Amino acid sequence: MAASCSVLCIIVLILQVKCNTIFLEMNTPTPEEASFLRRYGYLPEAQGDIDFSYTPQSLAEAVRKMQQFAGLPPTGNLDEETRSLFKKKRCGVKDIEKSPRSRRYILQQGWGKKTITYRVLNGSSTLEKERVRELMALGLAVWAPHGGLRFKQLDDGHADIQVSFASKDHGDGFPFDGPGRVVAHAFPPPHGAMHFDDDEVWGDGADEDISDDDVTDFFAVAVHEIGHALGLSHSNVKASVMYPYYQVPVEKLHMDDILGMQELYLKEELPSSGESTERASRSSLAPHFTQTADSREEDLPDLCLSHYDTIQAIHDKIYVFEEEWVWVFRDRRELEEGYPRRIHDVFIGLPKHVQFIRAIYQKINGNIVIFSGRNYWEFSRRFRLVRRGRASEFGLPRRIELTTAFLSNYNNRTYLISDDHFWRYDEQRDAMDRGYPKHMAAWRRIPTPVEAAMVWKGDTYFFCGPRFWRFDNELVEAHEYYPLPTAQVWFPCEPTPEMNKYLTNDES
Ligand SMILES: *[C@@H]1O[C@H](CO)[C@@H](O)[C@H](O)[C@H]1NC(C)=O
Ligand SMILES: *[C@@H]1O[C@H](CO)[C@@H](O)[C@H](O)[C@H]1NC(C)=O
Ligand SMILES: [Zn+2]
Ligand SMILES: [Zn+2]
Repeated sequence: MAASCSVLCIIVLILQVKCNTIFLEMNTPTPEEASFLRRYGYLPEAQGDIDFSYTPQSLAEAVRKMQQFAGLPPTGNLDEETRSLFKKKRCGVKDIEKSPRSRRYILQQGWGKKTITYRVLNGSSTLEKERVRELMALGLAVWAPHGGLRFKQLDDGHADIQVSFASKDHGDGFPFDGPGRVVAHAFPPPHGAMHFDDDEVWGDGADEDISDDDVTDFFAVAVHEIGHALGLSHSNVKASVMYPYYQVPVEKLHMDDILGMQELYLKEELPSSGESTERASRSSLAPHFTQTADSREEDLPDLCLSHYDTIQAIHDKIYVFEEEWVWVFRDRRELEEGYPRRIHDVFIGLPKHVQFIRAIYQKINGNIVIFSGRNYWEFSRRFRLVRRGRASEFGLPRRIELTTAFLSNYNNRTYLISDDHFWRYDEQRDAMDRGYPKHMAAWRRIPTPVEAAMVWKGDTYFFCGPRFWRFDNELVEAHEYYPLPTAQVWFPCEPTPEMNKYLTNDES
């Protein structure tokens, strides 16, 4: 008995030693692999000899981070698939910036202007300059609408984005590496240069190029590098254009790319000058709480699940209602301190039997009206109840319950929406306009029933479930590039794979 046990123990011991050895071997990056990890931001910059600068733990941690970014299981093991990443064609820009932020797609800044110039300095031996110019125009057109940008081609002089081909050391401290591996890199604003490795064989997008491993598709790489030249950093979302490894074909932007553009170019759009002082004085009217909300509340709803009763802009802030709670955002994704709060603590005098808010809007005079059931309550700019009455006083039929309401900045009319119909109320005359209700189908590409409608920074938005649409008041229809996912654009929610489903209008 005793003998057989010790034999078994020895076998177990031998196995362990063997496994450990293999494990260590697999986890030791070669000097080239370590320099790859350092170059793309997974290892800190080392002083002196790379062989002695890192502990096995820090190397394994760097491998894990690289795997995670590439969408592989973060095992820390240098298995075959992981090792293949070191040899893949890719962009030369770092994956991880020095100070990692929670939301990955923000780099520094955009161009701070809407018209951006570009110039193609030269072509490669396989792709002539004229063709590069055409493909650049197509690539820029992919990005333009998502930032409201216009691109202007220059033939000479200095442009914001300068495109050139070069090989090996080309004077910017980031030498190219001959055929394969790094194929291009680009610099964020205000630099904006895009460099393509002239040692690659550049193809112009024909099908045979795409399936040929030795040919690198210029358009696919250009769309990615344009993202950098506009200020975006790398994404770990494999289907996104900003994924660092070469992928073909590139057909359209991923939600993740679009969110990055929104963040850089659409968020900062502020109304014209003179607003800042007014904004400051108005914001002091909102209730102010020093004490923070009790986040241990068990029944606190999660906005990232895209459930909310309604959303409305009040005093230039975004109010989001769900059940008996209200969240207040200073700007998209910027939660005001002390929120969420209970609606009865914010709207002083709101009766207890009103347990949620579906229809709320701010009048031209700044007062706030809440509709619930067949009644309404009007609050002062300081959120004190000043009046209450029947919704029928607005000229609504008695049996109607509103689903949402908003004041349009386009014509200063109040729209009162109930399921698939809407009424138009004229506040100056205190009367309903003639010819209403109308069917919601009058607003093309806006779904019914909408859960919320509001005007934010001059634009009208409609919300339904997890999606929202921007409305074009002139064309009376939703803007072409909507819907987009509400939680990721308006609330500070992390991107999710599901959000891509909210990109299109198909209800499937
Ligand atoms: C293209 O222009 C850049 C910048 O002027 C230069 O460094 C590079 O050598 C040129 N490439 C070719 C292939 O002529
Ligand atoms: C709406 O009313 C406000 C306040 O009276 C006024 O400043 C604004 O110009 C009006 N807008 C339109 C489109 O009539
Ligand atoms: Zn890149
Ligand atoms: Zn360069």
